[in-house]
This record gives sequence, structure tokens and C-alpha cells, in this order.
Amino acid sequence: MFIFAHRRLATIIACVIGAIGSVCSAQPLPPPGECPQPRFTGKAPEEYYSRKNPLEASDKNLKAGERLYAGGKKSFGCATCHGKKGDGKGEMASQFVPRPRNFACAQTVNDIPDGQLFWIIRFGSPETSMPAHEELGDEQIWQLVLYLRKLAK
Ligand code: HEC
Repeated sequence: MFIFAHRRLATIIACVIGAIGSVCSAQPLPPPGECPQPRFTGKAPEEYYSRKNPLEASDKNLKAGERLYAGGKKSFGCATCHGKKGDGKGEMASQFVPRPRNFACAQTVNDIPDGQLFWIIRFGSPETSMPAHEELGDEQIWQLVLYLRKLAK
């Protein structure tokens, strides 16, 4: 009886933390960092979607984007989820469904317009773990967008 209860508990915990996805769902979960990566993200409203990055891909802007992406003491950054190299395999990536976007995957990312990236960074992706970053100014978000473009190969 004790063993039975124990196993049930272990199964429930496994489901809750999502460590063994196949216990909860028939479909195995996709690994983080797939390329091409399936994408179901909502589309930005037109006023954002059609925006073009107003910044030049200068060293200064790319460096600033890189710093924001890496994060530090003051801000959490993006690398923890999206990976240091942008490959979608950050330390926390396997906890999230859908998986964090793989920015190194040009096949998926090059088709996403600047304005869409901007909108998701500012407001997050509803019902996913992609958080809003309303503390960032327009310039900082555009610097991040420049850096994300650099990560795509
Ligand atoms: C807590 C984890 C987490 C953090 C931190 C995080 N993201 Fe994400 N991000 C995600 C997940 C999960 C998705 C996938 C959402 C989806 O499929 O709609 C995502 C998706 C995205 C997308 C995809 C947009 C699209 O239309 O496909 C962009 C752009 C993005 N993140 C940028 C960033 C940037 C820039 C930062 C840092 C400022 C950041 N993210 C921080 C988890 C995170």
C-alpha cells in the first residue's frame, strides 16, 4: 500500500514538474532547440507587425543588444531560456512548452518580421513562458532585435 501510494505520488510529481512528459501525454515532447521549429505564436497587431527596425547594426547597438540578452545582476536576460548562443537550449528551456524560440535557426527566425519580434519582447507571448519586458525602452528592444538577427545562421 505504501509503495503504491508512493509511486502514485512520484507520478504526480513527475507530471507537475514535467520531467517525464510521456507520463502525462501520449505525444513525447519535442526537444528544445529544434530546427525548423514549430511555431504557434500569436501575430502582432498591424501597427506593430509592419514596423521596421530603425537602428543600424552598428557595433555599439549590437553590443548593447548582446548585454541585454545575456542579462546580469539587474535584469534576468534572455539566455537562461533561449540559450547563451540563442540555440533555444537555455538551462530552463526543457521546463517550457512551447519551447523557447531557437534564434540560431534561420529557417524559422528569418521569416519573422522585426515588428513581430518587437511586440513579443515587449508584451510576451500569452499562455506561454515568454515574459513581457515592459521595463525596456524602444531603443533597447530594437537593439535586442538586431542581436537576435545576428544569432540566426
Ligand atoms: C522564462 C523563459 C524566457 C525568457 C526569460 C525569455 N523568453 Fe523569449 N520565449 C520563451 C518561450 C517559452 C517562447 C516561445 C513562445 C511561443 O511559442 O509563443 C519565447 C519566444 C520568444 C520570441 C518568439 C517570437 C515569435 O513571434 O516567434 C522572441 C522574439 C523572444 N522570445 C525574445 C526574447 C527576448 C529578447 C528575451 C529577453 C529580453 C526573452 N525572449 C526572454 C521563453 C523565454
